[in-house]
Order: sequence, then C-alpha cells, then structure tokens
Amino acid sequence: MLATAGSAIGLGNIWKLPYMIGVNGGSAFVMVFVICIFLVGIPLMMTEILLGRRAQKNPLDGMQALAIEANKSSIWKYLGGMGMLTGLLILGFYSVIGGWVLNYIFEAGNGSFTGISAAQSTANFDALLSSPLKLLFWHTVFMFMTMSVVAHGVNSGLEKANNILIPSLFAILLVLLGYSMSVGNMSAAYQFMFKPDFSKITPVVVLSALGHAFFSLSLGMGAVMVYGSYLQRHVSIARTTIYIALADTLLGLLVGLAIYSLVFANHLAPNAGPGLIFQTLPIAFGHMPGGSIIGILFFMLIAFAAWTSSISLVEPAIAWIVENTKVKRHIAAWTLGFAVWLLGVTVALSFNEWRGVKIIFGLNIFETLDKLTSTILLPLGGLLMAIFAGYFMQKQHVQEELDLQDKAFKLWRFTNNVIAPIAITAVFLYLFGIIK
Ligand code: PHE
Repeated sequence: MLATAGSAIGLGNIWKLPYMIGVNGGSAFVMVFVICIFLVGIPLMMTEILLGRRAQKNPLDGMQALAIEANKSSIWKYLGGMGMLTGLLILGFYSVIGGWVLNYIFEAGNGSFTGISAAQSTANFDALLSSPLKLLFWHTVFMFMTMSVVAHGVNSGLEKANNILIPSLFAILLVLLGYSMSVGNMSAAYQFMFKPDFSKITPVVVLSALGHAFFSLSLGMGAVMVYGSYLQRHVSIARTTIYIALADTLLGLLVGLAIYSLVFANHLAPNAGPGLIFQTLPIAFGHMPGGSIIGILFFMLIAFAAWTSSISLVEPAIAWIVENTKVKRHIAAWTLGFAVWLLGVTVALSFNEWRGVKIIFGLNIFETLDKLTSTILLPLGGLLMAIFAGYFMQKQHVQEELDLQDKAFKLWRFTNNVIAPIAITAVFLYLFGIIK
C-alpha cells in the first residue's frame, strides 16, 4: 500500500495538477477532474490492483497468466507490454522535471530566493530552461537516483520512508498554505478553483482531466499492477484504493490553492504552463520567515515523491526482463536507464535548442510525450484492463480478489464495466474527430 501511495503521489500532484488547472479554465478542470477520479480513477485502480494480486507477476506475464486462467487468447499480454513502454516514455520527461526540482533544492539553499520579486522569479526559471547543460546535469542526476534503486531491486526501506515522508509533505504544505492564506489572495484562488463555471467545460478540458486522473493515480501502465501483486491477501483492495485516491487528490488540490493564492496576489498568469510552481513558490520561500529552510525541505520532499514515482515507472519493464531473460537486474537497469536517459536528453533540449522541433500537431518533444502518454496510452491501458476484468475474467475470480459486499461489488462492476469504458471511449472518439 505504501509503495502504491509512493507511486501515485509525485510530480503529478505538485507540479502538473496546478498548472493543468490554470491552462484548462480553473474550476471547470477541477470539477471534471474530481468526477473522473471518482467515476473512473477509483474503480479502475481497484481493477488494476486486483489484476496484479491475482496474477502475482509482472504486467506482461501477468496478463498472459490471467488470460490463460480465463481461457482467453494470450494476446492480452501485449496490454502488459504496452504499459511497460508507456512507463518508459513517461520517465523520459518525468526525470527532466525531477531534475528541475533537484535544481531548486540548491537554489533554495544558496539564498537566490531571498526577497525575490515575481518578475525575478520568472526570469530565474527561464534562465534554467534556457541552459541545456544545467537541465542535462540535473536530468542525469535524477535518472541516476532512480536507476540505482532499481538496479538493486526496490527495497522496503524506501517504501517505509514513505511512512514519514508523505505525512511530512502534507505538514509542510499546511505551512505553505498558512503563509499563502496570510499574504496571498486566497479568496481569488478559491473562486478560481471551486466556483462552478460550466461554460468553461470543453471537450479538451474533459480530455485533459481524464488523462490527468490516470497520470495522477499511476493508472493504466502496470505500475499499480506490480504493486498489487505485492499486496497481501487480507488487505482490502477497496479501502486501500480509496485512501490513496483521496490523499492523492487532496494533496494536489491543496497545492493548487497555495499556488493560486500567490499567483493572484502577485499578478502572475494562471496559465503559465509547466513552469508555474517554479515561478511561484520561490516568491513565498523568499519572503516568509525561515523561508530558506522551508524551501529546501519542500523541494526535497517533492524530489523524494518524484523519486518513488519514477521507480514505479521502470519497475514493470525491469521485472519482466529479469523474470524472462538471463540478464542480471543491474545490467538491465543501467541499459534501460541509458535508453530513457537519451530520450530525456531530447526532452531537455526541447525546452531550449530544439524548441522549434515539432513532432505532431505543432507539439514539441516534451509536449508530444506528455500528451501521448496521459491522454492516449494511459486511458487506453485502463480501458483494456477494465474490459478484461469486466468481461473476460471469471466473475467469481474478480469477486474473490475484491471481496466486497454485494452492493459495493455491483457498484464497482457498474463503474468498471459501463461508466469507465463509455467515458474513455467517448473521449477517444472525440480525440479522433469522430464526435465533433
Ligand atoms: N502518479 C505519478 C505522479 O503523480 C506519476 C506516474 C504516472 C507514476 C504513471 C507511475 C505511472 O507523479
């Protein structure tokens, strides 16, 4: 359970959710996102955990074993394979952003935030983006941190650390929130995020919110399946899922409030995009008493949360290699790590030298990887898992894993078999231009 929470809580909550809210019309995004968490995220997280616990294997072999158990074609194993690949693609940009966080630990430490103005903070962030060497350096450090854990085998020490670090993250966030409340413009932030504005709900908002629900809960690529395979028999899948999903969502929304309160007080643009927290947080840390220490701690905690998530992005692929080939774990880890590092190099360059390189629909390398994984691959993975568990597995096997009372089981089944597939398919049909 701790490992799954460690995977779910990461840059998705602290870096991505706040800026996604801003670029997607504020409260409209928040509303759809929360609905997606409840109607799609929670049921599908239960599904993915149950598949993992039943299969007791890496996603590819696991899907194959489940298909065989259900007397179905082993073509389902490619669903596991697709998930592993998705994880590697995500890590390609995740580690670059993880690198930004590492850089900011040092910035907080060397006093560069002290007394900083909003304009200086934005300039500071732009300077980081325009320095390929800095980005590459920190991306390399982050990849190294991730792969050295994976090379040794994910150990329980790191998971136990989550026990202390996740509550610490909440605690320090409360400090930040208190500060934002006293000097920021909390009422504007609250209105921006929670005052319903149905007119701003567009198909793109729905698409982004659904994609982010998958990203934030680590769904659709097998990470949760791997951790589900470690979940003990007596632990309730439903309860585990609900705790994790609520903590994950709450954390993200609280970060959002803290950030937007500062954004509005400092007349920054809410739709600044991926740099949002890096432009805003230094202003808070640069002015609050003890800001350097709190800033260092805050960025360290974010880095830690990102680290435990990044491990879960590669672990499915490594587990498959180790269980199926003679390649040793550390060789597999460093080789795959090198390939992902190379991908990350192109992502880092897409913020400066290669900014003009567009891959598809006018998106640069970073944007392409981000959109491809969050809005297509993760929801597709989730959709197929839902269909597999709902229509291909024996109902009795599903019931054994979920171990729910009749009513709760029916509710899961309805959301997994009907609501989630319809919602995801509708979004895909829109994406491919079939529904306009
Ligand atoms: N959920 C993680 C986060 O919010 C990212 C992630 C996505 C991790 C998919 C694993 C799989 O940062």
